[in-house]
Amino acid sequence: MIVKILSLLAALMSLSQAALEAGVRQTNLGGNLYLVNRSFTLSEDYVPPDLVQPASAGAAAGTLMRREAADQLDRLFASARDAGYTLVAVSGYRSYATQRAIYSRRTSSGDRKDKERAKLLVAPPGASEHQLGLAMDLGRKGKTNLNAAFGDSLEGLWVREHAHEFGFIIRYQAKWKEITGYEDEPWHVRYVGPEHAQRIFELDIPLESYVEQLQQVYFGEYLTEDLPT
Ligand code: DAL
Ligand code: ZN
Repeated sequence: MIVKILSLLAALMSLSQAALEAGVRQTNLGGNLYLVNRSFTLSEDYVPPDLVQPASAGAAAGTLMRREAADQLDRLFASARDAGYTLVAVSGYRSYATQRAIYSRRTSSGDRKDKERAKLLVAPPGASEHQLGLAMDLGRKGKTNLNAAFGDSLEGLWVREHAHEFGFIIRYQAKWKEITGYEDEPWHVRYVGPEHAQRIFELDIPLESYVEQLQQVYFGEYLTEDLPT
């Protein structure tokens, strides 16, 4: 195994950065690891398959997710409820056009500081995981504003400790700001599947770093799955 990893790494080092980045973009690495950020973007017409309304979201508008993520969100909410916490689904799948409207509104209102800050909290169109149908913004009973208070609340602390058990990661954390390009977002959970989520939780690294690590070890073996349509 070590020989294999070393030879893969040697092969990798001979590849250009551009080839590596193209590989990351196209690779699912055997799960739900699609990397979407300002560098790896989705096309305007990309719409994920099997979008459904999670039962736990009730009839709340804008809360669709891909089926597997929705089922796991329901399990997450049920477990939180067993622990005495009521979570609220606030924002799930967003189309390219919806993200464009949000980005444009948020980055054009207020003073210059407000606009700059908005860019660290809202992804440009095509660069949002919400377009993947694998992200959900969470609130708590009676408090659905997306702000730092969620992270300090008992509900937010519970989510931080347990989301990975259901396949979700807390995607944007203050300590990773230089890598993810976003401020702390304790309310934004991203579905990657339980196995990857468990490992990412233990490694305590951002998705960018995790994908890069996997890419280096498995390069050439998982370059098969394009985005599902
Ligand atoms: N708030 C995250 C970065 C998004 O807009 O997708
Ligand atoms: Zn979000």
